[in-house]
Amino acid sequence: MKKLFLTFSLLTGLVTSGFSQSQKRDAFTPGERWYDENGELINAHGGGLLYDRGTYYWFGEIRGTKASEGVSVYTSKDLYHWKNQGVALPKSSDPTSEIAVGGLMERPKVIYNPKTKQYVMWFHLELPGKGYDAARAGVAVSDKATGPYRYVKSFRPNGHMSRDMTLFVDDDGSAYHVYAARDNYDLRIAKLTDDFLSVTTQDTLLFSKHREAPALFKKEGKYYLITSGCTGWKPNAASVHVASSLMGPYQLLGDPMRGPNAELTFDGQSTYILPVPGKKDAYIFMADRWNPKDLKDSRYLWLPIQFEKGQPVITWTDRWNLRSTFPK
Ligand code: DGJ
Repeated sequence: MKKLFLTFSLLTGLVTSGFSQSQKRDAFTPGERWYDENGELINAHGGGLLYDRGTYYWFGEIRGTKASEGVSVYTSKDLYHWKNQGVALPKSSDPTSEIAVGGLMERPKVIYNPKTKQYVMWFHLELPGKGYDAARAGVAVSDKATGPYRYVKSFRPNGHMSRDMTLFVDDDGSAYHVYAARDNYDLRIAKLTDDFLSVTTQDTLLFSKHREAPALFKKEGKYYLITSGCTGWKPNAASVHVASSLMGPYQLLGDPMRGPNAELTFDGQSTYILPVPGKKDAYIFMADRWNPKDLKDSRYLWLPIQFEKGQPVITWTDRWNLRSTFPK
């Protein structure tokens, strides 16, 4: 009897601790719930990835039902299994802080600066109680990839509003901030200073098409920029632009999405593109399928980017893996 009870509690324990959810997986299942190694839902929205010496770091917004609760960091060796490393950048309990509870930290991205040996995080910051009016870029640093990050400052790059954003490091090691400005009507790019903590005055308008959610990658000397329209949490059509120079001019290629609901980005919105290390021409498109009623339960869409007639195409698939999609 005792033995039976033990077996029963062990089994129920495994299920409630989410063990069943975090079993070995070898595929991405876009739009399905994604659990970490503790069996908890991954809470890393509007996220970005960093690859550093054999480890992937996934940074994202920690969301409550609505609230913005700081920046999380998860680690992985294979991109399928993720371990929660806790809060990379917490909200401040000091009500006078720019990152106090009640404000927003969105779309965090982290890059490594080999000159200063620091990990540098940029994010879209909104001040407590001010909705989306502040439109600022926030910066935080850490000596360790997992943090904790120290909040440094926020500002409007060269005086421009800054909402949805991403970071991009070019082959020569220079870093750039791509950001939605002028109430999201403009998409701009600014080169960062050598320490990656500020923008330089090399700050250019890419286009004025009312686009946001920028995600950028480079292939064979060309820069591809995927963006969404501006419809709040509601999905809309994506587009991809191409340029031979990072600062532009950018030419519209059209909507790269293919398959059911392609015209609504499969109910998602771009956030980041990962060039898969060690693989040729392998890129993962990352998007958020927002659930505005319960933001923490927003889903992740990770899909492969493929090239057809020299142009990027993202085709819906329920299930895929790196091994078969990108064999080389
Ligand atoms: C769209 C943006 O891309 C998101 O990051 C978020 O700011 C929502 N708008 C809020 O409505």
